[in-house]
Amino acid sequence: MPHVPQSDGRRPWAATVLTLFPDLFPGPLGASLVGQALVAGLWSLDTVQIRDFGTGRHASVDDSPAGGGAGMVLRTDVLAQAIDHARSSHPERPSIYLSPRGERLTQALVREFSAGPGVLLLAGRFEGVDERVIEGRGLREVSIGDYVLSGGEIAAYALIDACVRLLPGVLGGAASTSEESFENGLLEYPQFTKPRAWEGRAIPDILLSGDHKKIAAWRRAEAERITRQRRPDLKA
Ligand code: ADE
Repeated sequence: MPHVPQSDGRRPWAATVLTLFPDLFPGPLGASLVGQALVAGLWSLDTVQIRDFGTGRHASVDDSPAGGGAGMVLRTDVLAQAIDHARSSHPERPSIYLSPRGERLTQALVREFSAGPGVLLLAGRFEGVDERVIEGRGLREVSIGDYVLSGGEIAAYALIDACVRLLPGVLGGAASTSEESFENGLLEYPQFTKPRAWEGRAIPDILLSGDHKKIAAWRRAEAERITRQRRPDLKA
């Protein structure tokens, strides 16, 4: 993979995913603009197979929960070795454990991760990971929403995609992220394109007026209306 230094000479933004299913990557991250940017070297992706650090003859990575209960828990010694291995080459990146218990991933947090050198993501499976590795390795727990996935890999797709599309050059000159949902604390205004009339529904006249000031005011008002209606917590 080519390494294109950024304009300030830094290495490209990079994601490393610690997972039991490295074949899932790049997966959807290999498609469309984010995938093209990967091929172009605007960002990089690698995986670490947690099982490579498994213990015993069967390279076990998990065991039953202390205190009893259902499911299996990923072992702290195995995970610590995998994390230390990944960190040894990238000590500057934040280490994140994807978990429904984590702080919520917001556009503000995405901007923070995207502006940094990259991320090291631990994608868990089973019932979870031994609590001691979270503390012992200072992992930041991040959740992509209040629902439970069967593993962190899909959460890793979401976090990486959201970060990469903000990197300079990824969306190209045509696309702007500044008016998108959440960027200004509002949900995005409605968009329309041809045909002008469809099943009795017309494009609002103002959008065809050519009056850019009026169009901007209409869009702002619509964004505020939709935000108030759907997400009052965002305080439009
Ligand atoms: N792993 C399982 N569920 C998750 C969630 N909601 N967010 C992040 N990682 C997860």
